[in-house]
Amino acid sequence: MELSPAAGATVLLLSLTLAAVIASVFSRRRSSQRPPCIGGWIPWLGAALWLRKAPLQFIEQSRIKYGPVFTIVAVGHRLTFVTDEEGCAAFFKSKQVDFLAFIQRVMQKTASINKESFYKSYNAIREMMKSRMSQNKMYLYSKKLNEEFYEHLEYLGMEGTMDLYNFVRQIMVPVVLNTLFGKETCLTNRKMIAQLEEHFCKFDEKFEYGALLPEYLFRDWSKSKHWLLRLVEKVVRDAERNYPSEDKSKTLLHHLLDTLKGNATSGFCLVFLWASQTSVYPATFWSLAFIISQPAIYKTAMEEITAVFGKAAGNENVKISETELQKLPFLKCCILESLRLRSPGAITRIVMKPMKIHNYTIPPGDVLMMSPFWMHRNPKYFPEPEVFKPERWKKANIEKNIFLDGFIGFGGGQLFCPGRWLVLMEIHMLVALILYEFELTPLDPVPDQSNLHLAGALKPSGPCRIQYKQRMKAHSSAMNVLH
Ligand code: HEM
Repeated sequence: MELSPAAGATVLLLSLTLAAVIASVFSRRRSSQRPPCIGGWIPWLGAALWLRKAPLQFIEQSRIKYGPVFTIVAVGHRLTFVTDEEGCAAFFKSKQVDFLAFIQRVMQKTASINKESFYKSYNAIREMMKSRMSQNKMYLYSKKLNEEFYEHLEYLGMEGTMDLYNFVRQIMVPVVLNTLFGKETCLTNRKMIAQLEEHFCKFDEKFEYGALLPEYLFRDWSKSKHWLLRLVEKVVRDAERNYPSEDKSKTLLHHLLDTLKGNATSGFCLVFLWASQTSVYPATFWSLAFIISQPAIYKTAMEEITAVFGKAAGNENVKISETELQKLPFLKCCILESLRLRSPGAITRIVMKPMKIHNYTIPPGDVLMMSPFWMHRNPKYFPEPEVFKPERWKKANIEKNIFLDGFIGFGGGQLFCPGRWLVLMEIHMLVALILYEFELTPLDPVPDQSNLHLAGALKPSGPCRIQYKQRMKAHSSAMNVLH
């Protein structure tokens, strides 16, 4: 049967309409398998402006509103958050997820390491770090840290008033730099350290933005990044000039240079500098702030310290090695509890193949994110999650450095932080020395965490002044002294 041209046109129109309806139903069904999506009016920008205002809060509000898995579209990226146990297991274990692809992108943008250079050295660096910073290698750093901490405590004088975060930084920054990069480099120069701090703070402050967005949008950040790259070039030259003949005298920087064999040296050294610095100051700050702001906890910590080192130290410096630190378990519980409460806002992977979580399929290309900060507020693992309770860590085997179930402050899976034992020792030693040497009085309440950043341990949102006074020293024969 032949149709008239008008009837043919009508049939064609109807068929096209039907096809469009079917396609729309299917596409809706397909996209309904995806997690709920939070965008904005402007497609590329998405929810970036809301996210930028207070990212940490925005994650939790979205979880309450949309459930355990949701996607936030921001500046052309799909950021899919998983917030419960099923999501956490998939985040760390799924074969559909890759961590290298994400780190490669971050290193390209933040440290100008190209893809080829990244893949050429990444595994070797990771192995070197795991081996040089393993638990049984801590003896390589403890004596040096102990001496360096004392040297820099002297700059504080007998007494004073200072913001606690600056107090911590003033001691920790040069000590960490000297220990990891060596005293022979230009980083021992105090003027250089002041400049480094200025640029490091700018670089650190916008690290997440620099890792995702074009550099030209952040001119100050870019300036600091290039300043830091030039600095590490100089540090590398100094370290090469003073290359030690004996293996035992090598710093971590020397081992890094041995591993890189000239491949993207400045870029990798900048990443190492950033990773070794960004979380250690806030983590030390929170540990001291939580301890001294609660009289009962402060008292217990002091009793433990005096039981090990005696009531007063005489004029000599106390010696703290791993053996002495093992005798200060309450202090370690305080540090781990502080880390739990102020853990990184987010850690990240990339979805490589369609991935099922709950009833959703997360498409390849999504940036998969999880928040240790919010995961540590699950009452199933941490009853009364907002309360600072060092005693909850008694259940963990902290002598063997086994953390509590549900604690992911150092990440997990294949990407566990390789610096975790070193940083725990640095904080443990410094907190013990400060409390032993100085009487601290908090002048302000403990500030909240800043909600502005997701990378690294969270920083304080405001000042927290303390008064410090050197403790009266009297000789004690039971003490352990540094010679
Ligand atoms: C309190 C201090 C620290 C905290 C809270 C911390 C936390 C983390 C976290 C959460 C990750 C990502 C893990 C993941 O995505 O699953 C990480 C990775 C990393 N951390 Fe740490 N970290 C700290 C100190 C350090 C120190 C002192 C160093 C070096 C000396 C360091 C070196 C690294 C490196 C190199 C990576 C990347 C690992 C890789 O690419 O395989 N971290 N850290």
